[in-house]
Amino acid sequence: MNVTLAKTAGFCFGVQRAVDTVYEIIHRELQKPESQRKQIYTYGPIVHNETVIDKISSFGVKILNDEEDLKALTDGIVIIRAHGVPKLVYEILKERNIETIDASCPFVQKIQKLANKHTSEKEKVFIVGNPDHPEIIGIMGWAEGSIYAVPDIESAEKLPEGNGEKIVVLAQTTFNTDKFKQIIEILKKKFYDVNAINTICNATFERQAEAKELARRSDAMIVIGGSSSSNTKKLYEICKDQCPVTQLIQTVHDLNFSYDGAIQNVGITAGASTPKEIIEEVQNYVRNEF
Ligand code: F3S
Repeated sequence: MNVTLAKTAGFCFGVQRAVDTVYEIIHRELQKPESQRKQIYTYGPIVHNETVIDKISSFGVKILNDEEDLKALTDGIVIIRAHGVPKLVYEILKERNIETIDASCPFVQKIQKLANKHTSEKEKVFIVGNPDHPEIIGIMGWAEGSIYAVPDIESAEKLPEGNGEKIVVLAQTTFNTDKFKQIIEILKKKFYDVNAINTICNATFERQAEAKELARRSDAMIVIGGSSSSNTKKLYEICKDQCPVTQLIQTVHDLNFSYDGAIQNVGITAGASTPKEIIEEVQNYVRNEF
């Protein structure tokens, strides 16, 4: 059996940066005498991967879940997660004089700035992505005026006619490029005057393109990633489209393939927040067991 691991599998630049930042701060605090160490928090999980979170938690890092948690803080260090947060979170932390370390991905920060700029200039902004995802909640929290989430093609089709109205369209960093293009076309057909700014992250684009190509020539595909990772779910959809025998797993223990002689080529890819140890474990298991 041939096992091929996608070159783009695993941590992207933004996730690596966020995780490294957490360990730098842990290291920095551990250098201090115990009495002077500060409690380290992340606002929301730093990345969407349970294994990464468990490891960070084992060093005593705690997760703050909402504004109430933030408002209850009197001390400590808060690290902002890779997906970013609404402007209000920075304001609350500043007001409370809490040391804040910003580990939000620069590509996400760029979208936050665009949302802020265009809404400040009184333009209507559409953000294509899942409105329940922390990245989109964060981006929408930087708007100074009208901003609307368009989660999918069906929602774009349901929008009212544009009558020539000017709009700016941005995208969640992990959105599917083909679907983004389709949504732009739908908006144009509805007579919106569209200024589309493709803010899909290049790391996402490359990962999706490679996964699609790998799945196309594989008899079975394994996609590894956290249960709440949006980019992993999208990778799974893309692979499943090309290769019906595609399985989404979090760790090697979830693997449930019954390989038979018909399966000669197995492809493996992984979401942007999947640690390399997990990928290696899966890869070794498949190579050795089948
Ligand atoms: Fe940033 Fe792109 Fe990763 S937006 S967090 S580098 S997928």
